[in-house]
Formats: sequence, C-alpha cells, structure tokens
Amino acid sequence: MAVMTTAAAVIVDGAAYAQAVEDAVKASAAYYTGGTSGLDDETYDLLVRGIAAWEAEHPEQVLPGSPTGKVAGGAVEGDVPHTVAMLSLDNVFSAEEFTAWAASLARRIGHEAERFSVEPKLDGLAIAARYDRGRLTRLITRGDGTAGEDVSHAIGTVEGLPDELGEPVTVEVRGEVLMTTAQFEHANEVRTGHGGQPFANPRNAAAGTLRAKDRAYTVPMTFFGYGLLPLPDTEADLAARLGGLAHSDLMREAAALGVNTTAGTAVPGSTADTAEQVLARVAEIAALRAELPFGIDGIVVKADLAADQQAAGSGTRAPRWAIAYKLPAVEKITRLLEVEWNVGRTGIIAPRAVLAPVEIDGSTITYATLHNPADITRRDLRLGDHVMVYRAGDVIPRIEAPVAHLRTGDERPIAFPEVCPHCGSGIDTSEQRWRCENGRNCHLVAALSYAAGRDQLDVEGLGHSRVVQLVEAGLVADLADLFSLTRDQLLGLERMGETSTDNLLAAIASAKGRPLSRVLCALGVRGTGRSMSRRIARHFATMDTIRAADAEAMQRVDGIGTEKAPSIVAELAELAPLIDRLVAAGVNMTEPGATPPPPAGSDAEEQAVDAGSAAGPEAAAGGPLAGMTVVVTGAMTGALEALSRNQMNELIERAGGRSSSSVSKKTTLVVAGEGAGSKRAKAETLGVRLAAPEEFAALVADFLG
Ligand code: IVH
Repeated sequence: MAVMTTAAAVIVDGAAYAQAVEDAVKASAAYYTGGTSGLDDETYDLLVRGIAAWEAEHPEQVLPGSPTGKVAGGAVEGDVPHTVAMLSLDNVFSAEEFTAWAASLARRIGHEAERFSVEPKLDGLAIAARYDRGRLTRLITRGDGTAGEDVSHAIGTVEGLPDELGEPVTVEVRGEVLMTTAQFEHANEVRTGHGGQPFANPRNAAAGTLRAKDRAYTVPMTFFGYGLLPLPDTEADLAARLGGLAHSDLMREAAALGVNTTAGTAVPGSTADTAEQVLARVAEIAALRAELPFGIDGIVVKADLAADQQAAGSGTRAPRWAIAYKLPAVEKITRLLEVEWNVGRTGIIAPRAVLAPVEIDGSTITYATLHNPADITRRDLRLGDHVMVYRAGDVIPRIEAPVAHLRTGDERPIAFPEVCPHCGSGIDTSEQRWRCENGRNCHLVAALSYAAGRDQLDVEGLGHSRVVQLVEAGLVADLADLFSLTRDQLLGLERMGETSTDNLLAAIASAKGRPLSRVLCALGVRGTGRSMSRRIARHFATMDTIRAADAEAMQRVDGIGTEKAPSIVAELAELAPLIDRLVAAGVNMTEPGATPPPPAGSDAEEQAVDAGSAAGPEAAAGGPLAGMTVVVTGAMTGALEALSRNQMNELIERAGGRSSSSVSKKTTLVVAGEGAGSKRAKAETLGVRLAAPEEFAALVADFLG
C-alpha cells in the first residue's frame, strides 16, 4: 500500500486562515449537496489539516464556521430532524495513527476494545431510511447531522433499499447511497442525452440524482447499509434488543431484513480481535480497491460491541468508538490537453487522452484511456476541459467525466480523424471501434513485432528495430514473407553480419514449429488474444478444422459469443491467402495434444453436448487440472522460475485446466508466488485454494518441459 502523506496546507496569517475556512466550507457544502467544488478530496483534506494546525496555534481566533469544529455540511431550511445525530468520522492516514487511535480508545474505556468491525468506507453520501412497520416511508440526507433534507422522492430508484422489509418492524436503516461504475456511466449517458451536463464522478452523480426532483428520467443508484437503529415508535423490546447488539450483529440483522450490505461484495464487513488484525484486513481491502465496481475512500473501523461503544461515547462531530482509515485519493482534477489517435497492430484506431501531468497516489499520470469515438461523444468531452481522472492500483488511468461547471467557454471540440492517421487510408467506422481500411497491413511493423514476440512465434533477434529495417528495405510485406527471407537478402542489410544473419534464419526456422495456438495468435485476428487463441486451437486442434468452422461452430469455443464468432470467421477467411502461404512455408498448423471435435451433427457431437462439454474436447481432457480454473499471480520460483505468464497459462491448459487472469468465485486454485498482492488477497477473502509455485510444479510435473 502506498504511504500517504499527512501534509497540511501552510497557513501564514489570520487572513489566509479566514480564506482557507471559506474555501473549505464552500467545498464542503458543494460536496454534501452534490455540486463539484473544484477541490478534489486530497486538496480538501490538506486544507482542513492546515486549518486545524493553525487553530491549534491560535485557539482564540477559531472561526465559528470552521470545518474542524462542526459536523460537515450545512443545514438547509425545511430539513427533517434526525432522531439521533448522524455523525461524521475522524480520520487516520497511516498504521501508526491507527494504532495510536486504538490505544487512546483502550485508555478511554479502560481496556482494549473487545473486538473491532472492519468495513469499506463507501464513497457516496449518507442517508437515513425510515421504515414504518416494515414499509419504507422516508429518505433523509445527513444535512448538518442534526437535520437533513427529505429526499423520499428517490424511493424506488435506490437498489438495495427495499420498499418492504422482511418483517413489519419500525426501524431506521442508515447507510451510503452511491453509484456503481456502471450506474454512473449509465447516468451520465442518460443525462447528457437529455441535454444535461455530465456529473464529474460517481459520488457527485449520486448526490445530484438523489436530490433532484421532477426529472424526466430516473437512473438507479445503490444503497449499502452500515447502521440499524430504533425509532421513537419502535416496540420497546425490539428497541432494547437493537441497542444491545454488536455492530456485526446489527449488520446481519439488516441483511436478514432484506437491506443490502457489503456482505455480498468482494470486501464484506468482518471482525478482528486485535489492532494488528485490523491492519491486515485494511491492507486486504486496500489491495482489492482497484477491482471493486464501486468507489471506496477508506476503511471504517468500529468497536464492535455495544458496551464498548457506550463506554467510549461520542463527541459533537464524531463517535470516539469509530475511525475512518483513509486511503490515498485515486481521483484528481486535471486538464485534457489533446487527444492522440494511435493505430494498433490490427489496424484499430484508438483515441488516447493527453493530460496535464497530475500526481495520483504517487505516480504522475499523463495519459488516460478513451475507448472509442462514441465514448468521447457520449461523455461530451472537449479539449481544454477540466476532467476527473481516476487511477487505482495498476489499472490504466481513466477519465470519469469532464467537470462541466469549470468550463470557461474556450474549450474546443475534439476532432475525429477523417483518414487513418498512420497510413492515410480510409477508415471503417461501421463498428464502435474504428479501424483503418488497410487493416493489419496499415501498421505492419506493429503487427510483425507482435507476431515475432515472445508469447507468439518467439523469433529471437527480431525486435522492433529489426522489423522496421526489414519493412523499410521492402523485404517483408506480411507475416509469410518472413519465412522466405534469404541469407543474401539479410546480409545486404546494415548491421547484419554473418553470425546475426545465421542466428536470425535459425530463429525463423524454429518459429515454424510453434504450436497452432501461437501461430493463430501471431495472425492478429481481432478478438483472439493469447488465451482466446489457445482456446480456439485446443478446441479445433488443426488450422484446417478452424478454417472449416462456420460462426455456429466457432461459438462452441468457450468465451466466443454471437458477436465475436462471425467476425473471427470472416477475418480468417480474409486471411486465407496468407495462411496458405504460411502452410507452404512449412509453418506448423496443429495443436499438440488436442483432437479435433466430431463433425457437426454427428452422434459423437450430440453425446459431447449431452455430457455438458459444450466448451469442446479441451474441457473434457484429462490431466491433473481437469475441470479447474487456475489463476497465476506473483513471481514464479523453482521449476517454474523461467516461465513467462503466457507459458504458465499454456502449462495450465496442457494439464487440462483453464487459465484465467482474474480471481472470482469460479476460481479453483490460485498459484501465488512472491510479491502476490490483490489476487492473493481476493483468493483469501473468497476462500479459494492457494498454492505456492513449488506445490503447483509438483502437481503438474508430468506436463512440465
Ligand atoms: S459509520 C457514527 N460506516 O463516511 C458512525 N460510515 O466520513 C457514522 N461512510 O458520514 C458512520 N462507509 O457517510 C460508517 N461503513 C461505513 C461507512 C461510512 C461510508 C461515510 C458516512 C459517514 C462518512 C464519514
């Protein structure tokens, strides 16, 4: 986990202090009402810490409205009073600060906290949902903590908050309303479709959507409960029972009533007996953050037992029995300077955002992905826009949305290319992803470098610059040309002596013997990366069978659906002359160990389908990993040390298993080497079996080498 700074803004005098308070109050008001303040979270925290530091030195000059003293957010006229104050949380930013907090809690209650509950800090906004005899009657925002806005009009649009509880009880459920990444994208699409301005991030979108009345459209949000309390009308015995329950029990109770909690997510709330255990769980949740379908900005740690909570008590702003362990900010606002259009090895023309450099969680971000032209239009992005950029873990940075209210009017539309930016040919815009009409011949160097790469044909000595040389000399115009290169042609090139020439020719000759899966992958058919190429090759066993397959037959390969199948079939047909030349050059076109499927319509095929092996013979193959889905993570050691990730995946499939790159409930085994991070954590959370590289090597020993 990255170390977070607890730096504070430096405030030099009373005037700067007053300004800082004003800025922070404005930002905070915007935050709680769904606006965008222009301050990202990290800058806000920096400012508030600066304010706190100055106030510590000048206690007599503390302004009444300071964000350090009150419950954040401001009350609005007509608010509904909360029966119990909706408090905020104090923050810690490091393991040391957390340990110090746990120690101060122990001092306050006279003993170590009996148990902690640890749950993600969901990045949305707090809401109180009142249920009257089991029916949802009222939704109230937190407001200033003592009273909040009635947003009952949103009832019915918040998933996870049922209209009716499992039992006719009168209770208040508290929790966070947010938008998942998918809900956010949908919301912005709908909103801009109605001529509105996009929301900058999911949190803003949830806040704005929740408060909006009389919209022509509704967009769904998600609720996660983190509190359950009695209301004045609650039956006395239920009220007494709830009051005595540990937080973890309350969460079970809420879930049993039908309220959504974090229990069903990859980061369920859990309990820990010691501060060390809490820190281990914090690290696990932090490692899973990048993969979650919703935003979290920290981990909330609570004394679990009601008795410990009561003994600790609460301050005016926050309880003393709970703390937010903040994680580094993963969002920053920066400018969109330019959009580059890059042509990939298959001729796909992909836009990429060039950003004013911005630091997020310790690395400087200068580029972000943009998927395709439609994606740009949908997000209403313009050059010069301030954009909210998201980056967590090792995910590729992405733009969440423009910060529309920071527009000056000087923003310019993003120009889409009219001809291929690489070769000047026309562009096929019939699909979402645009493609050069020249296809893979457009960026021949990229296509050939990929084909010669380690995980494809593995032609040693044929790196990028050598490929450029061959293409520029006119010796190679497609993949098949590689195999007809002569000694004299190569010797005629600059920097090619006898030894390099002979080595390169030998490397090319040995590339002819690679398995079909690698040859197929080297062809660069769209939608057939490394693992898909292996699946196709193992399913069909020979290039002839692949070429004979129609879309229906292609769909029998695990992971190929109705959309992909026809395009793969069509592209292979286009490649027929090239494949014929490869065959003529002596390139291998079979997959070792695989057998072709029975011809369509035969008895044998029907039996295979009946037996549930729709994924083809590769799934039914024996071997120690038959029926298993295996994920490899971390550095391999021992007998597996020299294997690339691709070779590990090949090994898994040779041994009858299925390789995958992400851990889910469907994963059977995770091979975790040194330095394994989030995937190991996820496996542990899901209870998936883990194996060290050595243990795995023993399991597949017969298939090694
Ligand atoms: S408990 C009295 N648990 O974080 C305890 N809050 O920064 C109050 N939040 O106002 C809150 N996830 O909106 C709690 N698992 C969680 C939370 C959580 C997110 C929010 C909540 C709160 C804010 C404080």
